[in-house]
Amino acid sequence: MLPLEGKVAAITGGTSGIGACTAEVFIANGAKVVIAGRRQDRGEKLARKLGDAISFIRTDVACESDVKAMIDHAVDRFGRLDCLMNNAGRGSQNAAIADVDLEQFDAAITVHLRAVLAGMKYAVRVMAAQGTGSIINVASVNGIRAGLGGHYYSAAKAASIHLTRCAAMELGEKGIRVNSISPGMIATGAFAKFMGMQPDEADDHPEYAEAAIGAVVAKWQPLQSVGRTDDIAQAALFLASDASRFVTGQNLVVDGGISAGWPIAAVRSDRDLFFRTIQASLSARFA
Ligand SMILES: NC(=O)c1ccc[n+]([C@@H]2O[C@H](COP(=O)([O-])OP(=O)(O)OC[C@H]3O[C@@H](n4cnc5c(N)ncnc54)[C@H](OP(=O)(O)O)[C@@H]3O)[C@@H](O)[C@H]2O)c1
Repeated sequence: MLPLEGKVAAITGGTSGIGACTAEVFIANGAKVVIAGRRQDRGEKLARKLGDAISFIRTDVACESDVKAMIDHAVDRFGRLDCLMNNAGRGSQNAAIADVDLEQFDAAITVHLRAVLAGMKYAVRVMAAQGTGSIINVASVNGIRAGLGGHYYSAAKAASIHLTRCAAMELGEKGIRVNSISPGMIATGAFAKFMGMQPDEADDHPEYAEAAIGAVVAKWQPLQSVGRTDDIAQAALFLASDASRFVTGQNLVVDGGISAGWPIAAVRSDRDLFFRTIQASLSARFA
């Protein structure tokens, strides 16, 4: 039996990148999947490609009634809801504290935090009646480590990680597990979109992100390969399946080691300088 046989999942931000890849992996593992996003053409095209096990519904996660309609659609179309993956997101903007644009901050909070809460609100009603469910909130390594991402994005992702824990404490007694995944740098169209490229074109060319990540990976990550959407989809598969039945309230970091510390390649020369300086001082002292 496949790990997601008989299970139904809804994935926001399912029209591209991590969400679209996760939909494919879930279907290959037996699930029925609803994908949600704003781009109707792209969502319908993906649904046609993947066949009867998938359904697209146009959804803006900033709109509460759209989020409710997405959950209703999953139940109407496939009869139940076992997994909600709150994955919709947008790029991280850089702004110095003295120059922040509070409307941009609100927009980041809306898609990365408020929408996560809205998704849980409507999913929980279905999952509680079933007595089972798995909610996966896609956060970011920037939610646990400062300095790489912009302030709006990083703060919103950190809040979504903590909201995940809070929800897990409430919902465990209803049989609902709530976990987050924090990706590191994953080659998707998100980066090129953020740089102004037309969204469909950016999504069809993840190699631009792959090249950019490849340029910095040696200094930022202990593992030297570029993160792929499938790396996150496999983590989501684990959290959606019964293999993780005893896991809740956790943040599963899938980042090639970025958050663990400084890669040796980044510190080797400074570390050598440190010891050479001590050696020189000691030699001078005892000469
Ligand atoms: N790629 C990385 O390196 C990385 C790292 C850490 C975390 N993440 C997180 O992973 C998640 C997926 O990102 P990705 O890299 O796969 O980027 P992506 O390919 O750009 O996917 C983002 C998805 O979110 C959807 N979306 C954006 N705003 C929406 C809204 N208001 N309503 C509904 N859907 C919306 C987009 O669909 P439409 O345009 O069709 O609405 C798109 O399908 C995001 O939460 C992101 O923050 C990514």
